[in-house]
Formats: sequence, C-alpha cells, structure tokens
Amino acid sequence: MARAGKNGMNGKDGLGDKADSAPAVDGKYGAASPRSLKQRLESLADSGVQDLPRARTVARGRAPSALPQGRAVGQPGAALRPDATQPEPSGAQPPLGPQASPGDRMALLDILRHEVAACRRCEDLASARTNTVFGSGNPNARLCFLGEAPGADEDASGEPFVGRAGQLLTKIIEACTLTRDQVYILNVLKCRPPDNRRPEPAEVINCRGFFERQLAAIQPEFICCLGASAAQSLLETDETIGKLRGRWFTHGTAAVICTYHPSYLLRNPSAKKDVWDDMKVLMSCMGVTLS
Ligand code: URA
Repeated sequence: MARAGKNGMNGKDGLGDKADSAPAVDGKYGAASPRSLKQRLESLADSGVQDLPRARTVARGRAPSALPQGRAVGQPGAALRPDATQPEPSGAQPPLGPQASPGDRMALLDILRHEVAACRRCEDLASARTNTVFGSGNPNARLCFLGEAPGADEDASGEPFVGRAGQLLTKIIEACTLTRDQVYILNVLKCRPPDNRRPEPAEVINCRGFFERQLAAIQPEFICCLGASAAQSLLETDETIGKLRGRWFTHGTAAVICTYHPSYLLRNPSAKKDVWDDMKVLMSCMGVTLS
C-alpha cells in the first residue's frame, strides 16, 4: 500500500490551501516525474486518500453483478419513483430506452435545461437567483454525483460544485482516476436557497421531476449521493447519512451509494478517510482500478 499522508492530510490543515492550484493529474504513476508524483500524492492526500490499493483488474460490468454480497439493498423501485401526486414539470417526455444514443440523452437534457431555466415553482428562490444550476458532465456517464443545492459560486456561474466544496469534489473524482468530464454532477435543487440553508421539503418536491428526469435521461449505472440532503431526497428516507453510508440502494436500474458531502469534509477533515473508503468500494464495483 502506498500511503498518501497521515489522516489523509497534507500536513497543514488538510483543507486544500492548494485548492486553487491543484496539480495536473497524469493518471499513471509509472510515467510521472518525482515532482509530479509528489504533487499527485499531495492532491490525493488533500482529498482524503490515505492508501492506494495495489493495481488489480476488475471486470467491467453492470451494477447488480458487481454489488458486494450481503449488503443492504433498498427495495428495487419501491418508494424511489417521483411522487405521482405532484404535477409533472411541463413537457415530460417518455423515458429513453437503454440503447439511447449520447445524442438522444444530450437532446433530452437540453430540453430539461430550458425547462429548469424557466421554472418559477419556488417563487422565493426563483426571484433571488442569478442562474439556475442544471448540472454538468457527460450525458453518457456511468456515474452521477448528486449534491444538495447550489451555493453562491454556483448561483453566480450556473455550474454545479465550483466553489470550495466543488474543488474538493473535483479532487475526490480525480483521486478516483476519473475526471469531471467522465461523470455527471447534478443537485437536487436547481436554485440557491438563501444563506445556503437546507432545501425545504416543498422545494425538493418541486424539483424532484427535474432531477428524476435528468437521471432517467442519463441512465447511470451508479449514483453517489453527497450528504444527507441528497441521499434523503433521492431515497425518500429520514435516515441519517451515518446510517446510509456503507449500504447499497437502488434507484431504477442504478446502484446508489451515499457518502459525506464535501462541505462537511471542509468542516470535518477527519471524515475524508470515510469518504475515501466509500470511493474505494464504489470504484471497485465500477471496475475502476485505483493504482
Ligand atoms: N453544494 C452542493 O450541494 N452543490 C453545489 O453545486 C455546490 C455546493
């Protein structure tokens, strides 16, 4: 095992004073110079990586066959569908089939993006927003990260996870040897709640049709819920994030794993180790080799 730093920290506060200058990830240790290797290890440590598993090959495969045995898996489909009592956002399309092309997914997401931009269901949020924050990444992604709601930086830019928490999420994704362009990142709410308060239940209900339809368009194999708010909204449960971690759930055909929100990690750096443990399980199930 290669160690990446005590408690996953970089020897300072572990919060990434290097967050603005994250080193380029070259992907292969073998080809890296000592300096870039050192930078790479520091970045990994910053995102909570404590150890690197030995390289090994895991067969790629769909989620169900890759899921760990003996873990709790939620009732497939049960209580995970959009609330039928809520009016659907206008212009709902039939779901895409599993063979949908990237172009089909992109087209559907574009339609949804326009609907989101025009939405005023939560009038308080709509009148205070600078931008709606739809989501970004690969419409054909195998893995979606689901966050809570935009903050100030995301409201200003219209992009999800671009502030400090977003920079940490980027490091976590890169520690998994992936890039933001390979995954898809979205939030439960598409508008910023005032003072970054938690989404209210009525706001989640109003936005459910959007995030459900985004996920239906992308059809990811895996969804990683970031924090209690995302996990509780997607899985429609009151269980704490501490109880939801370490178990598998399903949402449609996707396998769902829950971990701490990057904002929580900024306040509680010692929890980075737990997130890295969750990421190792997720990557193993995805067949992504961490070397
Ligand atoms: N926190 C979130 O949950 N989402 C963002 O886009 C940014 C911060």
